Amino acid sequence: MVVCFVLTLGGQRSFTQRHSNRRHYSLGACGRPLKMVVSTKPHSERNASELLWRPSSWREMPVKQVPSYPDEAKLHEVEANLRKSLPLVYTGECEQLKKLIARASRGEAFVLQGGDCAESFEEFEKYGGDNIRDTFLLLIQMSITLMYALGMPVVKIGRMAGQFAKPRSSPMEREKNKQLELPSYRGDMINGPEFDAQARIPDPERMIRAYHQSTATINLVRALAYGGFVDLHRIHEINLEFVNGTPQGKRFLEYANRISDALRFMSSCGIQADSPMIKQAEFFVSHEALLLPYEEALVRRDEDTGKHYATSGHMIWCGDRTRQPDGAHVEFLRGIANPIGIKCGPSLKESELLELLDILNPDNEPGRITLISRVGAGRVREHLPRFIECVRREGRVVTWSCDPMHGNTMTTASGLKTRRFDDILSEVKDFFEVHREMGSIPGGIHLEMTGQNVTECIGGMYELSDADLATRFESRCDPRLNASQSLELAFLLSEYMSGKCAI
Ligand code: PEP
Ligand code: CO
Repeated sequence: MVVCFVLTLGGQRSFTQRHSNRRHYSLGACGRPLKMVVSTKPHSERNASELLWRPSSWREMPVKQVPSYPDEAKLHEVEANLRKSLPLVYTGECEQLKKLIARASRGEAFVLQGGDCAESFEEFEKYGGDNIRDTFLLLIQMSITLMYALGMPVVKIGRMAGQFAKPRSSPMEREKNKQLELPSYRGDMINGPEFDAQARIPDPERMIRAYHQSTATINLVRALAYGGFVDLHRIHEINLEFVNGTPQGKRFLEYANRISDALRFMSSCGIQADSPMIKQAEFFVSHEALLLPYEEALVRRDEDTGKHYATSGHMIWCGDRTRQPDGAHVEFLRGIANPIGIKCGPSLKESELLELLDILNPDNEPGRITLISRVGAGRVREHLPRFIECVRREGRVVTWSCDPMHGNTMTTASGLKTRRFDDILSEVKDFFEVHREMGSIPGGIHLEMTGQNVTECIGGMYELSDADLATRFESRCDPRLNASQSLELAFLLSEYMSGKCAI
């Protein structure tokens, strides 16, 4: 197969050179041949790259972490249904987010991305959407704090409205202290968390449920963001119930008081403080693009530009386990125009990173790529400098973000997955220090967090301990920072970044 992209950046190996060995497979992930091309342009009018990439061309590549569905007929029916469904996001919004992320690459904005490790059907039913409202509110509180301290816009992106599918290190899972072994739980969009054989069978119908929950979630988030709920004039009400009265809550109120004073001052000067920037919050949603049949079915082509977009979320990212340059996930991502993230773990080689940038951003478009490093506390100095160095050497424009969660997961003696607040803080601190030392720009942070008062991560101001974890451990997958731990992190980060404290 001939790959026709030509890279125009001076002094670099061309895309063709790097991809002369790109392999192709004739059968798709589900063992069935290629199908469906979304583009309505006649074949003859499409350019070479469009001919090569299709929403379904990932099916020709080796795929990891996507399940085989035993009920193929049902799978086809679900895919057909999703193809007819409304987009969750619009192309203009994705382009707007790309612009904002590009600003973060230049140090003119900061990206705050956060939410559940895995969204869940049960939690949504149990809290009737309150969990979404609370995580949204928490992100707003954190962003206000950061914005005030840094003096720059904070781009708010939820890990929500689509974060339902999980990559797993092992295909099988053993029940705690028992002999029974079953296929791993892969997120509510794929199979059930219950430890029973039937629940663990991948069920395509779950994609439809995830789609509907995502539409309800995005609807709620849009109402909260644009309906006056986060008007800075009522900043004192933007405080989560459970942090009200706590040291974090009080600290937030100090910021709130200062912001209120500034608004009052503006008003007494005759400046109208009623712009949408003050009364609304621009908010975006994101998830890992893991379950490719779902992603493919929600690809839509923008009639004006001819570009394809994943309409399942504004930003989608490629996980650390599925970022093989010759793999299906990278193939899918290269053809969609959304801003995308790439998780960069310790095993990522510089050559692979550059190859990924060639494939996913051949035009070196600012805002297109966010590199999310997640190497673990104590390992940042070993890995981040080599990532930064090769990206810089080749003149690539990326936005650097830090995920201090996924390199810091551990299991307690009682078998619960947890993370230490201090490890999270340490990775964040080293991330910022390395960027400062190398004259590079830290553009954002990526967190697993919730507005609920859960007890999933150890430490923080309340010194949650091992023994506390069982009190309220609700995560479907990885442990999340609770609201007070998240706010504490935001305060420390704000002070560190504005030079007021050494974390
Ligand atoms: C995640 O962000 O939920 C995740 C699984 O991350 P990673 O791919 O970095 O392990
Ligand atoms: Co996770």
